[in-house]
Amino acid sequence: MIPVATQRQDLLAALGGEASGLVPTMGALHEGHLALIRRAAAENDRVVVSVFVNPAQFDDPADLARYPRDLERDAALVAEAGADLVFAPAVEAIYPSGFATRVEVAGPSNRWEGVARPGHFGGVATVVAILLNLVRPTRAYFGEKDYQQLVVVRRLHADLALPGEIVGCPTVRDHDGLALSSRNARLSPDERHQASAVPRALSRMADLTASGQIDVERLIAAGSRELAAAPDLVPEYLAVVDGETLEPLTVVRPGARALVAVRIGTVRLIDNVALSAAGA
Ligand code: PAF
Repeated sequence: MIPVATQRQDLLAALGGEASGLVPTMGALHEGHLALIRRAAAENDRVVVSVFVNPAQFDDPADLARYPRDLERDAALVAEAGADLVFAPAVEAIYPSGFATRVEVAGPSNRWEGVARPGHFGGVATVVAILLNLVRPTRAYFGEKDYQQLVVVRRLHADLALPGEIVGCPTVRDHDGLALSSRNARLSPDERHQASAVPRALSRMADLTASGQIDVERLIAAGSRELAAAPDLVPEYLAVVDGETLEPLTVVRPGARALVAVRIGTVRLIDNVALSAAGA
């Protein structure tokens, strides 16, 4: 059975001085998380997976209350994927009484998801800073699926000289291209079918860019047409941005990224893809 630590001091005792990988999660693990854990296990002597539903990053208390929690299931999956320790702290172990600090990463937090979910990235940055300081990993693994989060974490890590290296890992996709997410389970069969318009829109934009189209207005028009083919899908944004600052571009340049957010029924989905122009 995999050990489960609930106290901060158990972590350092368990890790010793070996190369350690950290995979921060909020539980409800799926293949996307398991790919991060497997990679961490391949690249480090010891791997810690944190399972902590972080209240500081939820803007809607109802969302926090209904977030799926099943530590037993998650711990079994973590063990199977090759990690050595689950860190599953209580809220008070991360935010003890008197806790009064919040980390805000300006720049990349300000647009896109930062507008749709005010306060979200401050909550993410705060907990990630705490986890990196507690675990002091050699490497910490984050999925590119939440691309804006990855950019915010990289900025946080560089600005506060936090320990270890941040490793971004490719998005894991279902058979029709839909990015794996714990939210997908909340889609009805018809919504799930329509949701595949999201990766289709991104692939279309990536293909057009690869064949020389670098005009962002045209790329967005092509992506929007794919989204419009799914009648219940409501686009929130579809943008082409600089991969580091997340500022919108008018012409694709190296490192550009297409970002998308849509609503379908009660579910909100986000996704993204790298855009590289022919010869770039
Ligand atoms: O991506 C997530 O699951 C969370 O935002 C993270 C990075 C574990 C911080 O709570």
